[in-house]
Amino acid sequence: VTLTLLQLQPLTPALLDAALELDQLCFGGLWTRDGYQRELDSSSSHFLVLNAVEPAGEAEADTSSSPTKSGLLVGLGCFWSILEEAHITILGVHPQYQSQGLGQLLLYALLRDACHSKLEWATLEVRPSNQAALALYRRFGFKEAGRRRRYYKDTDEDALILWCSGLQTPEFQGVLANCRQLLGDRLALYGWQLSEDWDVPHVIS
Ligand SMILES: CC(C)(COP(=O)(O)OP(=O)(O)OC[C@H]1O[C@@H](n2cnc3c(N)ncnc32)[C@H](O)[C@@H]1OP(=O)(O)O)[C@@H](O)C(=O)NCCC(=O)NCCS
Repeated sequence: VTLTLLQLQPLTPALLDAALELDQLCFGGLWTRDGYQRELDSSSSHFLVLNAVEPAGEAEADTSSSPTKSGLLVGLGCFWSILEEAHITILGVHPQYQSQGLGQLLLYALLRDACHSKLEWATLEVRPSNQAALALYRRFGFKEAGRRRRYYKDTDEDALILWCSGLQTPEFQGVLANCRQLLGDRLALYGWQLSEDWDVPHVIS
């Protein structure tokens, strides 16, 4: 079995087109190009993307200018660092690769980086109908703290406001470590391999 390498990297201008394409696939167009550009320009924004790259041997054998050489964006996630809080503003995984652990991997990376940046809390908004996202957030200890009435204009749905506290506690460090340990095996089941630099946190610019 050949494993596809998963790289984690900050969003860069060169990745804007790919991010917009993925946004369209995951959310049907949540943010515009200007929206992504604002993230690039903001010093409070910590935006990570997951890039899937075919193993070196295979890419070399492929003489066409196949997109696999530069990789395919399969996930994106971002938080805003505001005071001591990580406000998670976006989290999406390519529809073709959902339910394989990539969402969990991205959220793990965001929370790990938030911890590394000395943040104390994480928060986000989610649709009550989004069972996949809710299951994912609860797994990391997010709890419902309120609602914004009729927040989503398309369906008139409320937004649940979730909070995760105590990022700097040993308990939360344990949650992260446990998650990291289980993820490697889960991802391997679906043919994913983490690149070697995975355990180096990305510092907020
Ligand atoms: C939400 C999302 C990011 C999750 O990413 P993912 O890679 O599919 O999630 P994972 O494979 O890591 O699964 C995380 C958990 O979600 C649950 N889950 C995944 N897909 C599910 C589905 N279709 N229905 C119900 N639960 C599901 C699983 O219980 C899983 O927990 P487990 O590890 O105990 O099995 C992804 O589904 C997505 O991009 N959805 C569209 C955009 C979106 O809604 N983003 C969130 C906005 S707040």
